[in-house]
Amino acid sequence: MSSERSLRTAGIAVSIAFLALAVLSSTDVLPPWIFRAVLFLLGALLWGWLLIRTYRTLQPRQRGWMLFWQYALPLFGSLPLSEWIAPQDATRWERIDARLTAVLAIGLFIAIIYYFIHKNKPNMRKKIVAGNWKMNTLPAEGVELAKGVVAGRGEVCSCVNFIVCPPFTHLAQVAEALKGSDVELGAQNCAAEAKGAYTGEIAASMIAALGCKYVILGHSERRQYYGETSETLNKKMEQVYANGLTPIYCVGENLDEREAGKHFDVVKAQIEEVVYNLSEEQFKNLVIAYEPVWAIGTGKTATAEQAQEIHAYIREVLAAKFGAAAAETAILYGGSCKPSNAAEIFAKEDVDGGLIGGAALKAEDFLAIGKGFAK
Ligand code: 13P
Repeated sequence: MSSERSLRTAGIAVSIAFLALAVLSSTDVLPPWIFRAVLFLLGALLWGWLLIRTYRTLQPRQRGWMLFWQYALPLFGSLPLSEWIAPQDATRWERIDARLTAVLAIGLFIAIIYYFIHKNKPNMRKKIVAGNWKMNTLPAEGVELAKGVVAGRGEVCSCVNFIVCPPFTHLAQVAEALKGSDVELGAQNCAAEAKGAYTGEIAASMIAALGCKYVILGHSERRQYYGETSETLNKKMEQVYANGLTPIYCVGENLDEREAGKHFDVVKAQIEEVVYNLSEEQFKNLVIAYEPVWAIGTGKTATAEQAQEIHAYIREVLAAKFGAAAAETAILYGGSCKPSNAAEIFAKEDVDGGLIGGAALKAEDFLAIGKGFAK
């Protein structure tokens, strides 16, 4: 039986039991307080459920306000309400009962209002599916791939922004293949300096001149194999913004760090050391990609819950410095993301898309990942 069906069956069973209880309590078979107690318990459960559901959809700042109203109003509002509910000559227990009922009634009322206000609020953040081709494809293959993405793009919601990041060598040709479509172009890296005697380097201005809008920065492969540090990344960020590009800044922990429970600290440091140096204006033009190193190219994906947990944390770390603007930052998940798991991961509130490696090398799979957006 599907979980939805079992939930429905359980709901019907509870309703029937509840009605039976109400009938029996109104006769002499059961004392009337049992019905009240069960009613109270169900009300409290509904209150808790609504609170948790709404809490998950709110941004950190809104959460604080919701908790304030959820506790302050029932606490103070229940005083006059319980006076009104309780009879004049009420006993001590009747007064306690009236006070608890008032707290529950007000709490539930506020929770319902909050729930309905926030239930269908569209998430205004950009939905992005970006392909990091890494060191794959020859120019002709890259052009074919880009053409395949353009050809199938119409089958995916126009609300999804597709970005392809080929190797430097075929940026110009891929730019040509993307012309006339809304699929955007990104590079996988750029130099830390503006120009000059830096043999083998490619400046952000050169990438911009080829039609790139994005640059991936701080990918774990660059941190790991090319010794990229926060110091270098700060300089690269400067170049990226100076040339009107948008960085896709990657963060993520390795397996040892995850197993030692240090993933939150690692990601926080990667953000504090680089993103915290941006101006408020620059911050508005930033994409973050969370890529756990243990999930990259391993076939091992973070669960949707693991992704949501750390994405929400990343947003909190961003909000600590940039306030409400953090609610607008697109945070992508990367690491063995494929058509079969994208929808579940993208359904999470703080996951705004994916940075795709292997699966971005087949237009069909890349596009199918874009179809994973239901929100
Ligand atoms: P895979 O999707 O191949 O695991 O790679 C993820 C990645 O590193 C994207 O930048």
